[in-house]
Amino acid sequence: MKILAINFSQSGQLDEIIENFISPLNNVSIERVKFNTSKQFDFPWTIPSFFDAMPESVKEIPAPLKPINFESEKYDLIVFGYQPWFLSPSIPTTSLLKDPKFMEIMKDTPLVTIVGSRNMWLNSQESVVRLIQQANGKIIGNLPLIDKSSNILSAASILHWMLTGRKEKKWGIFPMPGISDEDIQGASKFGKILNNCISKNTLDNFQNELVAANGLTINTNILFIEGRAKMIFNAWATLILKKEAQGKKRRFWVSFFKYYLIIALFVVSPFVVLIYNVLVRPFTSKSIREKKKKYTFLGMKV
Ligand SMILES: Cc1cc2nc3c(=O)[nH]c(=O)nc-3n(C[C@H](O)[C@H](O)[C@H](O)COP(=O)(O)O)c2cc1C
Repeated sequence: MKILAINFSQSGQLDEIIENFISPLNNVSIERVKFNTSKQFDFPWTIPSFFDAMPESVKEIPAPLKPINFESEKYDLIVFGYQPWFLSPSIPTTSLLKDPKFMEIMKDTPLVTIVGSRNMWLNSQESVVRLIQQANGKIIGNLPLIDKSSNILSAASILHWMLTGRKEKKWGIFPMPGISDEDIQGASKFGKILNNCISKNTLDNFQNELVAANGLTINTNILFIEGRAKMIFNAWATLILKKEAQGKKRRFWVSFFKYYLIIALFVVSPFVVLIYNVLVRPFTSKSIREKKKKYTFLGMKV
């Protein structure tokens, strides 16, 4: 069996996850590919460059990629790692999924997606599944890894990491940013499950086994936030690109979005989530369950 394991990563976090995931695979040949855009995104980011990535991320506008030399034209399985940017696939991810050569590689091929996110991957997975299906790829599993500290603390921590390039506790008091070392190492556990499925020729059962091993859990508050936030990001992306097309200063509108997001995330969302938990959540448990099931098996046959 020929496997392609491919991803982009700025900090190396997702590289490590993918490498741990594929480490238990035996009796297979693995081609490991790391890709990037021709014009690389800043890492560490500056504040303006970080927020400036929002419109193209949300609108899924691809950027040119550095040429990739695949050893084969077809693979039996693709392990595809990606990270969400602004509730959407990162721009390098979108660029690869829309690349005609990679679309041909995905055609009629099973794919496992591995997400290295902060904690919001639901909307981006919807986009990734759609893009995979547009290429006639067949998604058989999804392993989303997240930062398990609280939404607000992890947002502050990850901003510190992204803007300094240092994966460390902000001021020595915030939680460590990113996915815990334990979970990064633990990706190999799910690679073992994949290895069993490969040896028993039961790839279609991979997601069920991954879920049984707690490989995917969905937090109800995050489900609620993501249910609304993408629409708002989309409106901001439309506005910024429209203003830019009209010759207005993009930087000004991006900076406006930055203040909006900081206030929405750190000031407004805790209250909205509190109200949701008191007034809405107790009466919507069935629809919450259904939504969680939908996202657990997105794009897969159940
Ligand atoms: C511009 C930008 C936007 C991000 N937006 C999200 C997001 O919407 N949801 C999320 O869970 N993580 C988000 N993250 C975190 C990334 O998904 C990822 O975990 C982090 O950038 C580390 O990935 P790396 O392997 O490329 O270094 C964002 C990161 C960046 C740089």
